[in-house]
Amino acid sequence: MKYVLKIVVSLTILCLMILKPSNPVVFKLTNVHCGSYNKTWIRINQCRLKAINRHRTVFNFNATFLYPTKSITVHYQTFKRENGYRPWLVNTQIDGCRFLRKPYDALGILLFNIYRNFTNINHTCPLQGDMIVRNMYLTTDVMRLPLPTGDYLLAIDWIFYGKPQFATNVSFQFVEDIL
Ligand SMILES: *[C@@H]1O[C@H](CO)[C@@H](O)[C@H](O)[C@H]1NC(C)=O
Ligand SMILES: *[C@@H]1O[C@H](CO)[C@@H](O)[C@H](O)[C@H]1NC(C)=O
Ligand SMILES: *[C@@H]1O[C@H](CO)[C@@H](O)[C@H](O)[C@H]1NC(C)=O
Ligand SMILES: *[C@@H]1O[C@H](CO)[C@@H](O)[C@H](O)[C@H]1NC(C)=O
Ligand SMILES: *[C@@H]1O[C@H](CO)[C@@H](O)[C@H](O)[C@H]1NC(C)=O
Repeated sequence: MKYVLKIVVSLTILCLMILKPSNPVVFKLTNVHCGSYNKTWIRINQCRLKAINRHRTVFNFNATFLYPTKSITVHYQTFKRENGYRPWLVNTQIDGCRFLRKPYDALGILLFNIYRNFTNINHTCPLQGDMIVRNMYLTTDVMRLPLPTGDYLLAIDWIFYGKPQFATNVSFQFVEDIL
């Protein structure tokens, strides 16, 4: 009897392992919030999430840089939600124009890899005109993320010539595969 039980348990575990979906985590955008600090320079035409299904939301962003810029500082910060968003792990600045010439910051590269197929921001400075992100979604295909389960916020301030011009805040949910 004990032996049979052992086999049943083993078979069940084996079945679970086989049936385990290839992309078992929840990794999806939950909210976006953008704002221009200087509407004579940056017009935000669109900053919106759209639900495609239970597992996927897509991000659409469209902003017009009314004048060219050759100086972009990207200040990004990550937050994790625990009774409101608390600063978590990263609070750093990178030189956006240098990055577009030659990507150099490890986390910046990871973030850019998530966006690159969905954006027209794929050339060097100066940047001017419509900056587009179209139907962007999160997927674990791109990378393995060693993130604990939780709700996160990536807040980015875009600074031109030393002055903040606009912000893009994107929240997402990550649920670890617990099988
Ligand atoms: C983005 O998030 C930061 C940090 O929580 C906050 O200070 C800022 O006001 C937010 N900006 C927008 C446009 O939501
Ligand atoms: C706002 O944008 C205008 C137009 O480009 C620029 O001349 C001005 O310096 C900017 N103001 C700030 C505070 O960045
Ligand atoms: C972005 O917004 C501008 C201004 O509303 C519009 O003219 C342009 O067609 C939009 N671009 C895309 C790709 O949606
Ligand atoms: C971007 O597109 C290329 C070519 O279609 C593909 O190989 C790559 O996996 C895509 N990257 C992302 C982040 O979707
Ligand atoms: C940049 O993005 C545009 C619009 O998505 C695309 O047509 C173009 O081929 C891309 N250029 C490079 C160098 O990837």
